[in-house]
Amino acid sequence: MTAGQGFRVGGVAWGCLVTVLAVASVVAPRVLADDGDRDGDESRIRRGFEIAPVSLNLAGKNRALVGLGSYIVNAKGECNGCHSAGPQTQFGPGGNPYFGQPEQTNPATYLGGGRDFGPYPGPASPTHIVSRNLTPDHTGLPIGGDTFEEFRHTIRTGIDPDLLHPNLPAPFNGTLLQIMPWPAYKNMTDRDLRAIYEYLSAIPCVAGPGHVC
Ligand code: HEC
Repeated sequence: MTAGQGFRVGGVAWGCLVTVLAVASVVAPRVLADDGDRDGDESRIRRGFEIAPVSLNLAGKNRALVGLGSYIVNAKGECNGCHSAGPQTQFGPGGNPYFGQPEQTNPATYLGGGRDFGPYPGPASPTHIVSRNLTPDHTGLPIGGDTFEEFRHTIRTGIDPDLLHPNLPAPFNGTLLQIMPWPAYKNMTDRDLRAIYEYLSAIPCVAGPGHVC
C-alpha cells in the first residue's frame, strides 16, 4: 500500500465516521422526541388525568401517583373491560367505541365489578367467576377496604383474598384468581402497583352487594 492509498483509505474511514456522527446527531433527537417520553413519568401522569373517565377525589392523595395509576388502569391494564358489570353496561348509550360511536364510559359501572364470566372452567361447571368491585367503599379504601399491602399481595401471588371459588376441579386451583391477569400484572414495579392503588382510592364508589359507599 502506498502512502497515497493509506491516506485515501484513512480518508474514506474518517469520512464514514463524520457521516455516521452527522446522521446520529440528526436522527437521535428525533427518536427521543418521537417516543414522547423525554420527561419520564410526566407525560404518562398528564395523559392519565386526561383520560380518567370519572371525577377524582384528590384530597390527601399523591397527585402524581393518581395520574400514573389512571394511565396504567385506563390506557394499559384495561381493568374496566372486565371490572365493569358487563359489555352492555360498560359504555353509556351511544358511547360504544366498538360500534364506531364516540366512547363514553358509564360512570355507574366503572370498576364496580359484577361481570359474570360464566360457568368456569367448562359449560357444565356450577362455578361462575365474577369480577370484583375495585372502587373505594365507606372506609375510603379501594377494593372494598383493602390496604396497599393486601392489594400488592393479591397481585404478586394471585391468591384470592376472598376465596370465592375454592372448589374448582383439578388442575385448576381455586385459591388462585382464575380470570384476573395477575401472572402479567405481578411483574409490575412496586411504584406502578402503588400508583394503581392510589388511583383506585381516588375514583367514586360504586355501591354493590356487600359494598357500602
Ligand atoms: C380479563 C379480565 C380482567 C382484567 C383485564 C382485570 N381483571 Fe381484575 N379480576 C378479574 C376477575 C374475574 C376477578 C375475580 C375472580 C378471578 O379472577 O378468579 C378479578 C379480581 C381482581 C382483584 C382481587 C379482588 C379482591 O377481592 O381483592 C383485584 C385487586 C383486581 N382484580 C384488580 C384489577 C386491576 C387493578 C386490573 C387492571 C390493572 C384488573 N384487575 C384487570 C378480571 C380481570
